[in-house]
Amino acid sequence: MVFHKKEKIQLKTPEQILLMRVAGLVVANALQAVEAAVAPGVTTKELDAIAHEVIRSSNATPSFLGYHGYPAAICSSINEEVVHGIPSDRQLLDGDIISIDCGAIVNGWHGDAAISVMAGNAKADVLKLSKVTEQSLWAGLGQARAGNRLSDIGHAVETTVRAAGSYGILEDYVGHGIGTSMHMQPPIPNYGTAGRGPVLKVGMVLAIEPMVTIGSPEVEVLKDGWTVVTEDRSWASHWEHTVAITEEGPWVLTALDEIRL
Ligand code: MF3
Ligand code: CO
Repeated sequence: MVFHKKEKIQLKTPEQILLMRVAGLVVANALQAVEAAVAPGVTTKELDAIAHEVIRSSNATPSFLGYHGYPAAICSSINEEVVHGIPSDRQLLDGDIISIDCGAIVNGWHGDAAISVMAGNAKADVLKLSKVTEQSLWAGLGQARAGNRLSDIGHAVETTVRAAGSYGILEDYVGHGIGTSMHMQPPIPNYGTAGRGPVLKVGMVLAIEPMVTIGSPEVEVLKDGWTVVTEDRSWASHWEHTVAITEEGPWVLTALDEIRL
């Protein structure tokens, strides 16, 4: 992910945020359809086709497809795969955890979100991993308020994860600003001291995405050039939402329900 350091953080008007809400809802609908299809025996290519069809029938464009040559509409990352797994003929097994990451473009505006889902019956420690990661995402989203500083988000994510037990938080991959491109300023780490970095303003839109492992935070990229796996092969969870900073507080644009924190 390349950040162009000199760029400012893009500010959106309320009307533009409404357009981003439309893109966010397309992503939310795609993820809901994929989640409903996750089960032992299903292939990740089948999940990709489901997401692609929801996006296409919504007159939206899958933002991942063709991104630096990426070949699919979703990333599907199973077990020790953390992010950027490529859909394939691999079948899900009972007890697998799979992260589904999806992005869509509507009228030039991007939405980006990810969920972790269990195929069949997951072990208790894997269920807890996913719960903790999702909770840490919501803690971060709650900090997306005008007047806060950027690092308040990562601090809230990290504090939530650390309070829940001994987990690894990825440092090599981070969240990002989003708008007329998928990856924009600023990078958003999932850790850090509170009260640092740019002051958050109304009109900023951020993609917050904690990536958490049961073991080490160290990762490597497989030979396919995409799939990010833990070095120790411990299992991981990834959750993501796109959130707008509004006068009224955080607006989670990729949530199916109207969630304003
Ligand atoms: N959605 C991922 C992110 O949150 C990016 C996916 S990369 C792609 O940053 F190549 F798969 F598109
Ligand atoms: Co993202």
